[in-house]
Amino acid sequence: MANGTRGGYTPDRRSGGGFGAFLLGILFTIVAVGIAGWVYLRYGHPPVAVADQAFPMEAQIVHVPLNARIAREIEQPPFGASEDAFEAGARLYVTSCASCHGTPRHNAPYAKWMYPVAPQLWQKHTRGNVVGVSDDEPGETYWKIKNGIRLTGMPEFQHLYSTAQMWDIALLLKNADQPLPDPVAKILATGDPAGSTSATP
Ligand code: HEC
Repeated sequence: MANGTRGGYTPDRRSGGGFGAFLLGILFTIVAVGIAGWVYLRYGHPPVAVADQAFPMEAQIVHVPLNARIAREIEQPPFGASEDAFEAGARLYVTSCASCHGTPRHNAPYAKWMYPVAPQLWQKHTRGNVVGVSDDEPGETYWKIKNGIRLTGMPEFQHLYSTAQMWDIALLLKNADQPLPDPVAKILATGDPAGSTSATP
């Protein structure tokens, strides 16, 4: 077996300088990228207005980490769907969500003038029978209600509503493709949180 001795050639003395230059190169690159980034943000007209053109792959870049995070933290509903849950959910929905996400047959006027748009959560998708997010796990919708979605306008509600209240809304939206009990439909149709208890005209 060879003992590994290299005759004559000793690269070791130079390797220190080479490594130093290499580090300097990395440092230079980091600084250059930082300056280029700042110049782009300051003078490059990145999209800041709603109507501006999106970055290439912007939606994907945002949704990959969002979906990964939700998959890690998804929870199961602590109670099942019921008329009581739907009613409570509908009251909260017309109070806090309808202004952006609409109600059955009524669109929020500024929803599509947001970036990203606030999806109509009571509209049937063009394909299949899905309505709004009825195809998503209630745990996924619950996560979005609880935590919000950064830089989109979708607020977080964990500091406004209890866990049970957020599940009420999530379960309601899961069943947006089903016929809902009359009092629930009425709250959504009138936009009046007291819809089910107020005297019928
Ligand atoms: C100020 C406007 C606004 C309000 C109020 C609001 N949202 Fe949103 N919401 C948005 C926007 C904008 C998005 C889109 C985010 C995105 O595309 O990533 C969104 C996304 C969502 C989504 C995900 C939709 C999908 O297709 O995956 C759900 C579910 C949702 N909102 C539920 C609610 C509920 C429930 C409430 C009330 C408790 C609410 N939102 C209140 C603006 C709002």
